Amino acid sequence: MKHIIEGKFICLLFAAVVLTACNSEPEAEPEESETSEVTEEPDVDGENSEEEEDSAETTPENEEAESHKYEIVTEEEVFDESSIEALVNRQYLLSEDYVPDDLVRVEVPLIFPDHPEINQLRAPAAEALKEMFDSAEEEDIYLHARSGYRSYGTQEIQYGSFVETHGEEAASRFSAPPGASEHQTGLAMDVTSESVGYELLESFGETAEGGWVKNNAHVYGFIIRYHEGKEDITGYMYEPWHLRYVGKELAHDIKESGLTYEEYILESGIDIEENRAE
Ligand code: DAL
Ligand code: ZN
Repeated sequence: MKHIIEGKFICLLFAAVVLTACNSEPEAEPEESETSEVTEEPDVDGENSEEEEDSAETTPENEEAESHKYEIVTEEEVFDESSIEALVNRQYLLSEDYVPDDLVRVEVPLIFPDHPEINQLRAPAAEALKEMFDSAEEEDIYLHARSGYRSYGTQEIQYGSFVETHGEEAASRFSAPPGASEHQTGLAMDVTSESVGYELLESFGETAEGGWVKNNAHVYGFIIRYHEGKEDITGYMYEPWHLRYVGKELAHDIKESGLTYEEYILESGIDIEENRAE
């Protein structure tokens, strides 16, 4: 994987639509509630971090840690941008020209049905998402897909907009620079629900829908990628809405471990530390 600095620019006519529709963060509308506004900003006080910080020590899943395999991913898969197991973060970037070759439209309830790009995922992830949403519905849990695949160019526009609004330091805590977003893999979907106004809020984690996702996403091959209290490891703030498809076996093992994907990969004996920036 390589970081290509020169960004492909999407036409200006399209930009306004993109910024509105594929925003992976809560909308910054002044008239919105304080809750909405707060969740758009970095949780600099760490007010909401105690529960998750402790979880790696105390959850029942972790008591089973010794039964983990930690041998499901290989170095080749982790560092292959087209693999389902690809590691993508601020240190491990996708090529500017990387576009998955198996993108399909997801067949689940959508927040922005008229935006073709962001309603796509790679085929296995799209199938798993539908399976998950259908199962949730059987338990009266109604999930909605807000933002899936985003091209390098779309991410570039979105990140640039956040930097302009919030400054680079703050924006980079909740929005990935181009090449550093899992959304470009076509394996990440932001999910939301009526209970949070169909936005992307930290409080989603406390809702029935967020709880269901936390407890069940792994069954369908998804992990919650950005854990609370693990920003120093993942590079991004807590995002209970951001689901990353890794396949069922791996998702199950990662969930059982209680670790972030970066930590899990390290436990698998794959050295990702040496290239870690900062
Ligand atoms: N919000 C996540 C980090 C992204 O922009 O990909
Ligand atoms: Zn996301």
